[in-house]
Amino acid sequence: MTPGATGTDMRVRVGGLDLANPVMPASGTFAEGLDRVVDLSRLGAIVTKTITRELREGNALPRVAEVRGGMLNAIGIPSKGVAHFLGTTLPLYRAWGVPLVVSISAPTAEGFASLAAEIGVAGVAAIEANISCPNIEEDGRAFAMRAGSTEAVVRRLRAATHLPLWVKLSPNTGEIAEVAQAAEAAGADALVVANTMLAMSIDLATFRPSLGNVMGGLSGPALKPIVLRQVYQCARAVRVAVIGCGGIASAADAAEYMLAGAAAVQVGTATFLDPHAMTGVIDGLDSFCAAHRIARVAELTGALRPAGGSHPATPAPRPADAPQPPAPESPTPESLTPESLTPESLTPEFPAPEFPAMKPPALEPNPA
Ligand SMILES: Cc1cc2nc3c(=O)[nH]c(=O)nc-3n(C[C@H](O)[C@H](O)[C@H](O)COP(=O)(O)O)c2cc1C
Repeated sequence: MTPGATGTDMRVRVGGLDLANPVMPASGTFAEGLDRVVDLSRLGAIVTKTITRELREGNALPRVAEVRGGMLNAIGIPSKGVAHFLGTTLPLYRAWGVPLVVSISAPTAEGFASLAAEIGVAGVAAIEANISCPNIEEDGRAFAMRAGSTEAVVRRLRAATHLPLWVKLSPNTGEIAEVAQAAEAAGADALVVANTMLAMSIDLATFRPSLGNVMGGLSGPALKPIVLRQVYQCARAVRVAVIGCGGIASAADAAEYMLAGAAAVQVGTATFLDPHAMTGVIDGLDSFCAAHRIARVAELTGALRPAGGSHPATPAPRPADAPQPPAPESPTPESLTPESLTPESLTPEFPAPEFPAMKPPALEPNPA
């Protein structure tokens, strides 16, 4: 058993892997160097930045822009190529002793398949196929936009590797449940829901797009309610594990995703604001489970109750005739009552980092 500080069993089984806990980085938001500030051995898994076969330069500058509730990026998957990954990055990452999930991308199904075969080496625990990157193809189109193209690429991938195959979906589709089912039917072991949402912003000082690529991917808190809904839809449509990813910055966010059906979560943009965001989510989930008398974090997955009721979840057992103590300033697990156990009373214990760009910017008065 892998107990958290409060004794919660934090283990989860996700897409063919046994993880010590359900928290891992989102691809592209984690890099070596983070190990100088964060104890990476505490993570459930490590997911690499997406790699491609060839060297790639990436998109025109600027590649990132802050927006209210998150950020835009149009990095364009700059990559040092597979040879550099196998020779330099992999030995480094292997040393952290955490299951390593390698994210890959290619412009064609054939390219995906040959890259998957090539990276199936010792030390790689699973492949995450990024079939959803909105920047790579014209107008942001990606395999994950439609069920047919998803099924075709995942079938090729499945035939090319024996490693657990995770498939990262796109939020930019109107048929996320059908795409999820197509990926599952073609052999995916888990689905990561989701990548960034195609978006843009305009710099009012220059009247130009904020990003050199004009459009980019929205990430951060603004994404959460949308992707949470998609996780809910996917988890109801498939039997394989769903990994939630979109705007997770706190244990409360992660708990919502797990209740909606996610077996694990990925933390992305939040790490840029607080390098300890992932370990904060692990510790917070542990405390959240303790507060709800939940022995195993995996019990959260899909534990969403039907809409409509107002009764709080999992009231602490109390003898009916016991005198009620005065409500403390900040509830502890022992002092929680059905009345005190509301989302509002729990959330302050699992705070999210401040997103400065969440405040509406003041518009400069027009001098003319
Ligand atoms: C700067 C940046 C780079 C990213 N690079 C990748 C990538 O290489 N591959 C990928 O699958 N997703 C990439 N993503 C998307 C994230 O993995 C994640 O799906 C998305 O940001 C939503 O999660 P978040 O709101 O927690 O950031 C990137 C996101 C950001 C912000």
